Amino acid sequence: MFKIKTYSSVSSKQFILCVFILFLLIMWNITSFGVYDELTIKNMESKKRFYVNSSKCQMPYVEPFNTEFTNLYTQKNFTPCSNQSDLITVNFDSILNHYVLHVNKEVLHKLSQSNSNDFACFYQNIIYGQSADHYDRMGNRTKFTHDYVVPLNVEGMLVECRSADEKRILQEDAFTFVQHQKSPPNSERDRKASVIMYGIDTVSRTNLRRLMPMVFEFLKSPGWYEMMGYNKVADNSFPNIFAVLTGYSPHSAVNQICDASQPGCLDKIPFIWKEMQREGYLTAYAEDSLNINTFNYLKPGFFRKPTDYYFRPLLDALEKETFNLYCPSCKMKYCLGRRLVNSYIFDYCRQFMQRFVAKRPIWGMFWSTHFSHDDFTMLSAMQHKVLGDLLNFEKDGSFEHTIMIFFSDHGSRYGPLMATKESFLEGRQPMMFIYLPPWFRIKYPHYVEALAQNQNRLSSNFDVYNTLKHIINIEGLVEHTKWSYDCPQCQSLFYPLPETRSCSEAGIPEAYCTCHNYEEVQEDRGTWRMAELVVDRINQYLQYHNLQSLCSNLTLRVVNVTEVRMLENDEHVSQGKGLRNYHTKFQVHQNLAQFFATVLYDRRTEELQINVELISRINRYRTDAECLDDSVKKLYCICLSNIRNNETILTIQ
Ligand SMILES: *[C@@H]1O[C@H](CO)[C@@H](O)[C@H](O)[C@H]1NC(C)=O
Ligand SMILES: *[C@@H]1O[C@H](CO)[C@@H](O)[C@H](O)[C@H]1NC(C)=O
Ligand SMILES: *[C@@H]1O[C@H](CO)[C@@H](O)[C@H](O)[C@H]1NC(C)=O
Ligand SMILES: *[C@@H]1O[C@H](CO)[C@@H](O)[C@H](O)[C@H]1NC(C)=O
Ligand SMILES: *[C@@H]1O[C@H](CO)[C@@H](O)[C@H](O)[C@H]1NC(C)=O
Repeated sequence: MFKIKTYSSVSSKQFILCVFILFLLIMWNITSFGVYDELTIKNMESKKRFYVNSSKCQMPYVEPFNTEFTNLYTQKNFTPCSNQSDLITVNFDSILNHYVLHVNKEVLHKLSQSNSNDFACFYQNIIYGQSADHYDRMGNRTKFTHDYVVPLNVEGMLVECRSADEKRILQEDAFTFVQHQKSPPNSERDRKASVIMYGIDTVSRTNLRRLMPMVFEFLKSPGWYEMMGYNKVADNSFPNIFAVLTGYSPHSAVNQICDASQPGCLDKIPFIWKEMQREGYLTAYAEDSLNINTFNYLKPGFFRKPTDYYFRPLLDALEKETFNLYCPSCKMKYCLGRRLVNSYIFDYCRQFMQRFVAKRPIWGMFWSTHFSHDDFTMLSAMQHKVLGDLLNFEKDGSFEHTIMIFFSDHGSRYGPLMATKESFLEGRQPMMFIYLPPWFRIKYPHYVEALAQNQNRLSSNFDVYNTLKHIINIEGLVEHTKWSYDCPQCQSLFYPLPETRSCSEAGIPEAYCTCHNYEEVQEDRGTWRMAELVVDRINQYLQYHNLQSLCSNLTLRVVNVTEVRMLENDEHVSQGKGLRNYHTKFQVHQNLAQFFATVLYDRRTEELQINVELISRINRYRTDAECLDDSVKKLYCICLSNIRNNETILTIQ
């Protein structure tokens, strides 16, 4: 029997509370949707908010639901990959240390439209090992029955269940397993903190607030710290993730170690997981897109298995052996078989923690690109899925043990948000949340205090790298600890960051730095001239790299916005003489390509200083640069073979 609470059992205190909450809700509605008078707007302007407001960094807070955003946003609903219930479910038998497959009778009856308990289920093992990044082949079909114990050598399988006479397929499915491994002796003594990195490609901290408000609420729970002054250090995924995992920029890795785009180099790079392994951590790495995987998109990938558990060969099999479904607005795969693409890697993450996190130190990174990369509104469709993952980890007790880093590499770099006033901040302020488990907070109160203070200070990818190094060596930092190579002044986030920190001290080039105040300047001949000179630099760059036979020279079509950096002492724009920093957003005629550049420019002498490779490309370029494989040069090359008639482009848009 349910116990039903009647109205009379609600105390008057509760009643008053309810009325008060109702009142608050109404007030909130009025202020958020109601009309503002001009005075309120003026007040709001004077109360400009900042993520960081320190002596050398004023990083503006972006109002998530400003009108610019609400005008271009339409909510997206979640589309499931299948409406059928699971015929097969997987349990882990913690006594046998084996996975067990259950056949659900009710689902069987429904799918076979009979009351018979007979069925014919088969699985095929995903066999891999000849190359690090691919599977070799599918194993032979093996018949299985109720409560089948999955052998330890099976890390992934495709399942097909048929009716008893084998004539009709009832359901096909796919599973991956983090198989048990014995812990080394003494692994429980002086345990180091585990670290799990849950990453989603292309999520700015503003878009998280807008599109995943429930996840954002969860990330306010005790133990979570948002790094609100986190600023990316490079343009796209690879260099930003590379900085977090190695402390190097790919550019200096070329000189110091090897060129990451050359075969075999990635195996030599001192990724953080190698040090973790040496220190007794069990390691895992998983991504959910084969093509745009961080280490395989225009990169040669790995030749040796990089981590103890490495998902890519399994993903290779899943993408090739299951039915792939693309979501309407994504150019990327959305379902593999009857499951969402990202559910495979986050289930893998969950298993990894379930198996080991209470027993020994583990490190793992689980990186999803497939839903967020092409369309920022997909974040709203996926928020329940992401929240569900976090709640599952909580239910399993994983948050009792592990540090978790919930993060992204950058915000939107192209698409509709690039036309907004805040596009510069959007692309450069990825979300970064760090969770510390209760035991860690008790054991290291000073580190927690520093992290809390650092939430509103400027930080970067290199600091996160140093923090990982710090975690490995937390019980006595050794003299020879090698901190981030490319940012000598960066540090662990468990030490207080200097209040006077500047972007260059955090390893952030001016082109990505969101600390400085830029103000719009009126378009005139001078702003056009500056953009023209930037376009000419791109042309010179193409010529310098001998790309003129492949790529078109560019010509300026529109200057969208020009901004000038305000000087620290509030000096007026017109008084600024000599070289000043400018932003220029412009479009060229060729395929209507759009760019955003940060330059040093002297309006009087027309002296211009710019590193072309730091110019951002702010529209999609995949189909403009098919003639080139270089991930950087692609941004500036409109292939002669891809030149389109602008009228066609405009009608497509
Ligand atoms: C930012 O810091 C300056 C200098 O300390 C202070 O005057 C200003 O009020 C701060 N702004 C906000 C919004 O906190
Ligand atoms: C699931 O059900 C909904 C609503 O009936 C339907 O629109 C959708 O196409 C179904 N999805 C699949 C994958 O069958
Ligand atoms: C798979 O089947 C083939 C042909 O029946 C057999 O030769 C082979 O040994 C089987 N492989 C495994 C791994 O059982
Ligand atoms: C720049 O201006 C052109 C022409 O008005 C427009 O089509 C384009 O969308 C603008 N780009 C941005 C990023 O605002
Ligand atoms: C392309 O631009 C470069 C740099 O300005 C210039 O030297 C070259 O002559 C141009 N090529 C053509 C075909 O216009």
